[in-house]
Amino acid sequence: MRLLMLGTGGMAKLHVKGFNAVPGVEIVAAVDTDAEKLSEFLALHSIPRGFATLEEALAWGEFDAVTNITPDRVHYPTTMQILDAGKHCFCEKPLATDHAKALEMTEKAESLGLANMVNLTYRNVPQLQKAHELVKSGVIGKVKHIEASYLQSWLVSKAWGDWRTESQWLWRLSKKHGSNGVLGDIGVHILDFASYGSGLDIDHVFARLKTFDKAPGNRIGDYDLDANDSFTMAVDFSNGALGVVHATRWATGHFNELRLRVYGERGGVEVQHRHDGSRLMVCLGPDVETGSWQEMPVDPVPTNYQRFAGAVRSGVTQEPSFRHAANLQRVLDLCFDEQSNRAVGVEIL
Ligand SMILES: NC(=O)c1ccc[n+]([C@@H]2O[C@H](COP(=O)([O-])OP(=O)(O)OC[C@H]3O[C@@H](n4cnc5c(N)ncnc54)[C@H](O)[C@@H]3O)[C@@H](O)[C@H]2O)c1
Repeated sequence: MRLLMLGTGGMAKLHVKGFNAVPGVEIVAAVDTDAEKLSEFLALHSIPRGFATLEEALAWGEFDAVTNITPDRVHYPTTMQILDAGKHCFCEKPLATDHAKALEMTEKAESLGLANMVNLTYRNVPQLQKAHELVKSGVIGKVKHIEASYLQSWLVSKAWGDWRTESQWLWRLSKKHGSNGVLGDIGVHILDFASYGSGLDIDHVFARLKTFDKAPGNRIGDYDLDANDSFTMAVDFSNGALGVVHATRWATGHFNELRLRVYGERGGVEVQHRHDGSRLMVCLGPDVETGSWQEMPVDPVPTNYQRFAGAVRSGVTQEPSFRHAANLQRVLDLCFDEQSNRAVGVEIL
């Protein structure tokens, strides 16, 4: 697979690492509208060609697939161009900034028969895959209650850089710059984590979003700081289980931490994912009576990068697909609705 990289910012480094680890994948070129970033990136990763625009890269055309690592609002227009040019597409999350656009992208990719996947990164966590398998096997019985959280602290800590001065954080705080806040940025990850890990569809959501004052006039330069920083969500799952899902950028002491707890009528599973490692804990069988938890070992799983290369090779899209991400986007859209206590019916693939 000859791969074009669209966008050479922070996340692009992980795409280089992920795709370079897949035999048969060759990164042939990269595109960035920021000339300085592009030339540094080409040199650092020994990528032979660079383009200032997607249009120039498409005119050249000597690649099979594109990995789209641009900011959220750029995903829709660029992915539509990529698909129209007959190229397979791996797109960063969230697929689009709203459900209508995400659906349009999905329908175009499917009608053209092109491989399409979204980088819901935490599918790469073997502990999440194993939790999904355990719950689906019925070992914990019917699921009754779910708790999921995604905690970050970059509004408090400078460990990842200073949001007051760096554009990669400022665009994430501003609606005008295409951000749907913490809900759009990592809400999609934790909804996927909760629904995939529990093997359950989402039926209803009721969400509360909060944007805290962060600067004089809530503005820094060209950036209005109006996108949400925290959300809490009450969720009804398709089997009748209840759940609480929440995320924030204000969680001091937690750089990037996801947790899922799934409780069934015979046992429980817990997935913990932190920057320094992941764990799968289970409370099953006799441990239910003593309230003891054991760590369960897991085997490695293929990464999204490997699965996308496989999809391009076989012509069969793998999960997480555009359609799955569009379904999640529908839940996110409803959370922005004042009257968000609605039925949504999300199919988990
Ligand atoms: N899957 C994950 O866990 C994960 C983690 C972080 C970021 N992301 C997603 O990755 C995407 C990129 O995030 P980032 O942190 O790398 O942002 P970033 O701002 O660091 O990088 C984006 C790059 O895209 C370039 N760009 C903007 N418009 C362009 C265009 N039209 N054509 C070509 N290049 C263009 C910018 O110049 C910049 O270099 C976002 O959608 C973000 O939500 C996903």
